[in-house]
Amino acid sequence: MRLEDVQALTSADGQDALAAAATLAASSPLVAAEKLRAQGFSPALAAAALTQAELRRRAVAKFGPDAQLMLFTRAGLEQATRAPVARRRAERLAAAGARRVADLGCGVGADTIAFARAGLRVLAVDADPVTSAVTAANVKSLELDDVVLVEARDATETPLVAVEAVFCDPARRTSGGRRVFDPRAYSPPWDFVTALPARVSNTVLKLAPGIDHALLPKGAEGEWVSVDGDVVEAAAWCGPLAEVPRRATLHRGDQIHELTGGGDRQAPVGPVGAYLYDPDGAVVRSHLVAELAEQLDGHLLDESIAYVTTGSDVPTPFARKYEIIDRLPIALKKLRAALRERGVGALQILKRGSAHDVDELRRQLRLEGGASAFLALTRIAGEPAALLLRPADGPGGAAGR
Ligand SMILES: C[S@@+](CC[C@H](N)C(=O)[O-])C[C@H]1O[C@@H](n2cnc3c(N)ncnc32)[C@H](O)[C@@H]1O
Repeated sequence: MRLEDVQALTSADGQDALAAAATLAASSPLVAAEKLRAQGFSPALAAAALTQAELRRRAVAKFGPDAQLMLFTRAGLEQATRAPVARRRAERLAAAGARRVADLGCGVGADTIAFARAGLRVLAVDADPVTSAVTAANVKSLELDDVVLVEARDATETPLVAVEAVFCDPARRTSGGRRVFDPRAYSPPWDFVTALPARVSNTVLKLAPGIDHALLPKGAEGEWVSVDGDVVEAAAWCGPLAEVPRRATLHRGDQIHELTGGGDRQAPVGPVGAYLYDPDGAVVRSHLVAELAEQLDGHLLDESIAYVTTGSDVPTPFARKYEIIDRLPIALKKLRAALRERGVGALQILKRGSAHDVDELRRQLRLEGGASAFLALTRIAGEPAALLLRPADGPGGAAGR
């Protein structure tokens, strides 16, 4: 999108074009463009409105009904925080007493909007003029422009004098759209990002879920967030905002579950029990498996593998739960015979600590029966192992993920 497209889309004519484009989802792009031009919209405005209509449809998953009032860039939508995650963060920052926050690298404004709705005044900054114009348009259409100031400027040159909190969600993609995994390739630069807590102690950094714990600012709380089982981000809560060393925050439907702890404990190891728990990725990434095992009164099957086992059935939102039916031989022929004997034709395979190629194994097993089953490939006390499972999540469990 170009700056002139943002200007055109926010004009009265642009609003009409957007409304007309929204009704053309069923038409092919060519036909839709022709219909808009037939209604008197310029080719450029018709194209921009149709692109927005498509992005708005996709954005509903992240933004809900707000999407229909917002503008997006493609990259901005991909990188935007999901609304419930942004809301949770904003409410926590507001509860900590912050009143004015700088959102450095605000993108299309997902976090800015959440901060404003949580009662904070926001200085929203993005170095990209189109992206900051999009944020300005978004806060205006959501009627938040009286509490949000949007500026097109480099975060590294933004004075932080009038704010008592900073949020920074650095871009983790190249200009070509490829993800970057090395924080040193983030923009604004990593050195700038990690120096923020020394300038404004109430700093929150949004980071990639794969971030190395050693890279978190000293003393920061590391939070890993999942939505319906997918780990979507990590955040570092710095200075007085750090409440615990590690937190796993799970959004499941409308519910939020949090597990907290020290993050560096080793869970006890013991024998195979009656149940196997496959922890949510946020629990694993936040190194809180020992805390989960303790909560379940369980233990690990292997000191380096994140499966927890218990003797009795304990409901938990923090892991998928399976009943352990049997321990099967791991060697291909014996495994095939054991599964055929049970009439298993459809096999879902989980793995932790196994190098098996799951699809290849499924092909090699050539199963044909009418029964379905779950198999966990893992290690037990250092030895490769296969466990036959039956899902056991009841109400309140993690099955809905
Ligand atoms: C990951 S996105 C932010 C997404 C935003 N939190 C949201 O949820 O909508 C990062 C943004 O930082 C901006 N950015 C990158 N380098 C910057 C810099 N030096 N100063 C200001 N903004 C920058 C990019 O243009 C991009 O829009």
